[in-house]
Amino acid sequence: MTNPEPVKHGDVTQRVGVEVIRARGVDVENLIKMLVANAAAEFASTYYYYTILRMNLAGYEDYKEICEDARLEDRAHWELIVPRIYELGGSLPNDLKEFHDQAGCIAAKLPDPPTVVNILTLLLESERCAIRSWSAVCDVTFGKDPRTYDLASRILNEEIEHEAWFIELLAHERDGKSVPSGHFRRGEPGEAPYSKNRGFYNP
Ligand SMILES: [Fe+2]
Ligand SMILES: [Fe+2]
Repeated sequence: MTNPEPVKHGDVTQRVGVEVIRARGVDVENLIKMLVANAAAEFASTYYYYTILRMNLAGYEDYKEICEDARLEDRAHWELIVPRIYELGGSLPNDLKEFHDQAGCIAAKLPDPPTVVNILTLLLESERCAIRSWSAVCDVTFGKDPRTYDLASRILNEEIEHEAWFIELLAHERDGKSVPSGHFRRGEPGEAPYSKNRGFYNP
């Protein structure tokens, strides 16, 4: 069998880790764009939008705790996926505004009025956008790029849980209905059982 990848001995301008997935049919440049868009959405939500939304859930301390888990797990998602962008030969935009504007999900701004129902609705729809975006990454990498697929599917596991959490809270708060999420408490806030790097590295 001939060697499918053209990387020369000692060459640091090309990567076997990229060429093997290209040879299997991955559009690497498009994949990098998708990952940058998803990273931007995770970054904006964890460090900014979810923070603001959570601050406005005062008096709903149980909802705040669920929101904090979702927020901190988005931070883990950001840190899990950024290294993959660089491994693929991509990079983050060197301009925060430009980066923000590439996000694959619309900004989760504080709703007007900032009622608990409006905030929970926004959180729910934001998780749904994340499920769609990470599923799309799974689709283009399945059977071709096992590393990106593994990272994206670990994130997707948690986004699906987040959707269930906010369906439960919104159904209760808005409709007076019980729609259980099947949620068991995480070990600690921000546990991110599927997506987090080691605690030493990512406290
Ligand atoms: Fe996320
Ligand atoms: Fe999420």
